[in-house]
Amino acid sequence: MTLTRADADYVRDLVRERSAIVLDGSKDYLIESRLAPVARKNGLGSLEELVFRLRRERSGPLHDLVVDAMTTNETTFFRDVGLWQALEDKILPDLFSRRAAQKSATFWSAACSSGQEPYSLAMMLVDRFPQIVRTWNIRILATDLSSEMLGRAAAGRYTQLEVNRGMPARSLVTHFRRTGAMWQVSDRLREMVEFRAINLVRPWPFVPEVDVLFMRNVLIYFDLGTKREILGRCRKSLRTGGHLILGTSETTLNIDESFQRTVHGPATTYRPK
Ligand SMILES: C[S@@+](CC[C@H](N)C(=O)[O-])C[C@H]1O[C@@H](n2cnc3c(N)ncnc32)[C@H](O)[C@@H]1O
Repeated sequence: MTLTRADADYVRDLVRERSAIVLDGSKDYLIESRLAPVARKNGLGSLEELVFRLRRERSGPLHDLVVDAMTTNETTFFRDVGLWQALEDKILPDLFSRRAAQKSATFWSAACSSGQEPYSLAMMLVDRFPQIVRTWNIRILATDLSSEMLGRAAAGRYTQLEVNRGMPARSLVTHFRRTGAMWQVSDRLREMVEFRAINLVRPWPFVPEVDVLFMRNVLIYFDLGTKREILGRCRKSLRTGGHLILGTSETTLNIDESFQRTVHGPATTYRPK
């Protein structure tokens, strides 16, 4: 299935307008390969027909499916091991001593995809900081634009391949049970994570006050102005002393100079100055 230049431009504009994801001209193959299944599942014989329907209906569930299909959802459990080591050794112990009077801490995984990131955090808290989990008010908020990913994340069911990627065997045995060919995350972890839909480029329905904000591997898809706007909102959301965590190829440098870059061994976080 192929797209005409005009139809590819229409999809590019739609996706950019709704998600801020930038798909330049070199991504036409990606648009075609991601939208072919959407067309098939919706009984449409070609991409031309799909775009015709999108144009005719202006807005609706098909538009959401198209935007959803154009998101890249690559993720793994404990992605970037150095970060998780730094969280365990330094970032979380420091946070818990800073918040000892309040006995509360809030975490936000702001582009959580299929849930591996917030569940990795929940596992780390339960395994390494059990006393805190028992006695503090710990909130883990996990959000994404993609309703398909949020559905998967909330269900907490993973394939063998997904649990093989990044998950220590001990964590798998402790926190998952096998159901047929899948692995089901424990109710305990599921209850620790609140999943919600938030489109980062639209007004946020609420601005949580957070201690650690994971905004990893999502800013890369946005243009400079959008990155700057989102980083500004992140800063407002962070509590004093809080940490913004970006993907390894992302930075606030030359985008928003009101963050202080802090290095913790192999990991870097960004803290409001
Ligand atoms: C590559 S995944 C990153 C997952 C995880 N944070 C990690 O680093 O492993 C990027 C996620 O960003 C989400 N995303 C893309 N545009 C978004 C937007 N405008 N608002 C919220 N989430 C968005 C996608 O749906 C996708 O799940």
